[in-house]
Amino acid sequence: MPPDEPLVVCRNAALTFGRGPQAVVAVHGAELEIGPGDRLAVVGPSGSGKSSLLHLLAGLEQPTTGTVRRAASLGPYDIGLVFQGDSLIPALSVAENTALPLVLAGRPEDEARQAALAALALVDAADLADRLPEEISGGQAQRVAAARVLAQAPRLILADEPTGRLDHTTGARVLDALLTAADHTGAALVVTTHDPAIAARLTARRTMRDGRLLAPEGVS
Ligand SMILES: Nc1ncnc2c1ncn2[C@@H]1O[C@H](COP(=O)(O)OP(=O)(O)O)[C@@H](O)[C@H]1O
Ligand SMILES: [Mg+2]
Repeated sequence: MPPDEPLVVCRNAALTFGRGPQAVVAVHGAELEIGPGDRLAVVGPSGSGKSSLLHLLAGLEQPTTGTVRRAASLGPYDIGLVFQGDSLIPALSVAENTALPLVLAGRPEDEARQAALAALALVDAADLADRLPEEISGGQAQRVAAARVLAQAPRLILADEPTGRLDHTTGARVLDALLTAADHTGAALVVTTHDPAIAARLTARRTMRDGRLLAPEGVS
């Protein structure tokens, strides 16, 4: 594979929920390429289609029209999605939740646990390792969700408002961890946010408004 081959390419990709008069067009004809090492913020208010776009990129949703093409070399474990909200499994400890993608990918449990603990340390959550999700706060759970993706070391990190429920300091720390992890592994990073201060920390920014992904700044 050529090193600069895009990881994901959206061409005129649209996503509609429902049919007929009830249909909601969550994403209108999006044009977007994510290349290796990209650092992209998708900025927009609530309801503008950011999560829907991220789910299209991840392959969780298929475009209603248009295409979303992922590089053939990009396997399912090469994509790490930090869901909006934290989506931890209640019966598993924080360390087990963090190690889960690695265990599912077939890594030995010891090794998976070590990688999980290292990732938890990156988001200042090492002390939470043996707690259950119900024993930690929403903000802590959001950090654990970020650690789970860091442990997986995917080639494409898609983080859906990873700092949404965190104060500025903790939010900046989680973003630092995502940026550091992406730098270490050369992963591409796409972060949705409605916070301009968070968006400013990524290399590129695209705005979503009413389901439309606007052209890059300075390009008409
Ligand atoms: N599963 C769904 N079914 C129906 N409508 C949905 C669904 N998911 C999102 N939507 C609608 O799509 C639009 C975009 O939502 P979303 O992608 O969640 O935006 P954001 O992440 O920017 O808040 C909203 O109008 C939302 O109500
Ligand atoms: Mg959302």
